[in-house]
Amino acid sequence: MSQTAFFSNAVTRLFGTRLPIVAGGLMWLADADYVAAASRAGIIGFITAATFPEPQALRAEIRRCRDLCEGGPFGVSVSMLPKLVPGEKTLQVLRLIVDEGVKFVETSGRSPEAFMPLLRHAGVRVLHKVPDVRFAVKAAALGVDAVAIVGAECGGHPGLDMVGSFVNAAWAESHLEIPYLIGGGIGHGSQLAAALAMGASGVIVGTRFVVAEEVWAHAGYKRRLIEAEPTDTDLCMQSVRNTVRTLRNETTAAVKEMEAQKPDVTIQDLMPLVAGEIGRNAYVTGDWSRGLLAAGQSLAFVDRIEPLADIVGRFERDMRQALARVAFN
Ligand SMILES: Cc1cc2nc3c(=O)[nH]c(=O)nc-3n(C[C@H](O)[C@H](O)[C@H](O)COP(=O)(O)O)c2cc1C
Repeated sequence: MSQTAFFSNAVTRLFGTRLPIVAGGLMWLADADYVAAASRAGIIGFITAATFPEPQALRAEIRRCRDLCEGGPFGVSVSMLPKLVPGEKTLQVLRLIVDEGVKFVETSGRSPEAFMPLLRHAGVRVLHKVPDVRFAVKAAALGVDAVAIVGAECGGHPGLDMVGSFVNAAWAESHLEIPYLIGGGIGHGSQLAAALAMGASGVIVGTRFVVAEEVWAHAGYKRRLIEAEPTDTDLCMQSVRNTVRTLRNETTAAVKEMEAQKPDVTIQDLMPLVAGEIGRNAYVTGDWSRGLLAAGQSLAFVDRIEPLADIVGRFERDMRQALARVAFN
């Protein structure tokens, strides 16, 4: 395949992108600037709805994103994780998204079943993100357009079973008839080539893109991600069945300690340590010592701060190189 060859498959056709790469939702970070940068780079990104809890703020961000994308694709990510605070807002958020004419939604956290009629009726295309092939099969039966399966390596929530992405990629192939993306530890184009070869139609990426210039987080935080190795992440909150993979720091040590000391620890006990605002503060100040800061093993590939388009360009070059490496003549 030449450097300029056109790439087309189920995922590029679904989203209208140049490459089969999805920039998944990033709490606090995936705003209109980041998502528009993804769109301009030939991939699709998702504004993270929970970052804009006020309906008017989310509406304004969607409109800003649409302007910045200049006709390019973008979506909104809606995490439906069981809420830690009272007040279920998922339906309200999805109605706003539909009302704004957004074409693509990334859902995660629990089954989208209750919301499928609303989304289907409005013609919204649904990418449902799951941590397990079994959940992917269930989502396919509900009529989602594609699934993203994130493995144990991922930043954020890898689920409870902790199956790795290399297994998921090949395992899903014999279980799914809809397009699937592989995520968790993906940060190099050769992994995209491998995922495609195994039957996936693309990859979903989080950690690798956090150092993009268009991500507003403090440069000090990004520098820490560049220095960090894949072994610099911790898994926390398994005891409350809400496992997260985050950058190892004082908070992960304290959380693990509390979990070890108190086997019946509750999420309310952990809240003073893990509240999302603490993480946001790390992004604002660059002080990464506190907060649960989602980061996965693809830290291996995080090497410099540069425009998102350049990171995507390297993905593409490395994907093509990998495909050429194994091409039979
Ligand atoms: C900093 C950060 C924040 C994230 N926030 C969210 C989120 O709010 N909602 C969500 O569905 N996924 C979130 N994720 C997960 C990503 O969308 C993606 O599924 C995951 O990062 C893929 O694995 P990787 O980090 O190994 O690339 C986040 C990931 C990171 C690194």
